[in-house]
Amino acid sequence: MKILVLNGSPKKERSDTLCVTRAFLDGMREAGEQQVHILDAIDQHVEYCTGCFACMHNGGTCIHEDDMRGILEEILDSDLLILSFPLYCYGMPAPLKAIIDRTLPLSSMAMQKVGDRYEHVGQADFSRLRYLMICGCGFPNSRHNFEPAVAQFKLLFPAGHTIMTVPESPMFNAAAAAIVTEPRLQLVRQAGRQYAEKGEIEASLLAEITSPMIPEEQYAAIVNSGV
Ligand SMILES: Cc1cc2nc3c(=O)[nH]c(=O)nc-3n(C[C@H](O)[C@H](O)[C@H](O)COP(=O)(O)O)c2cc1C
Repeated sequence: MKILVLNGSPKKERSDTLCVTRAFLDGMREAGEQQVHILDAIDQHVEYCTGCFACMHNGGTCIHEDDMRGILEEILDSDLLILSFPLYCYGMPAPLKAIIDRTLPLSSMAMQKVGDRYEHVGQADFSRLRYLMICGCGFPNSRHNFEPAVAQFKLLFPAGHTIMTVPESPMFNAAAAAIVTEPRLQLVRQAGRQYAEKGEIEASLLAEITSPMIPEEQYAAIVNSGV
């Protein structure tokens, strides 16, 4: 399977979230060979979308000549697109958002009603693409935190999406927390294997992965003791 990972963390290799994503990819590799490319959003030369809509009228060519042309080709050539990013102000970090905005050339201006909402009609064939969001965050709570990013991902990719939100994610880069992060990463590897084999992750496994690793109050006390 061809997998493109858009790493939205400005910390690149040192990303807490990427620890989870790497474990997931390891699990996928246990099920079979995978062709993986991890692209750090912060290192890409991607201009902001100017909102001119030229790309939606002219068959898909943006006015900007930058790295986005290659990224779009790679997206269309992939089977799985993974957005791996930390929650920033309840959404995705700006460099990754800039890339997502610039996927506009994949759609035409025409809109169609699908169910009870409108979508743009594609002007490229990305029907085989599936989408996975892996999102870490600094707070211990999932509720009143991940909802905007989750809602955005579902609206962006209404079909074929899987979402993995991981609270308390700075612990993945803390050696002292290995006693709780290692078992959690083991579950993530299991999820990766399941996803590669069946195209989905059991709801109970996903629920376990997305739950806090240590009680919220304990996590907050540890963080506050270092402030
Ligand atoms: C600008 C900024 C905004 C953040 N916003 C949130 C937030 O809304 N909710 C949250 O739980 N954590 C928030 N965090 C914390 C990060 O999500 C957290 O540190 C995460 O572990 C970083 O992951 P990374 O190492 O993959 O970049 C924010 C951090 C930064 C720098």
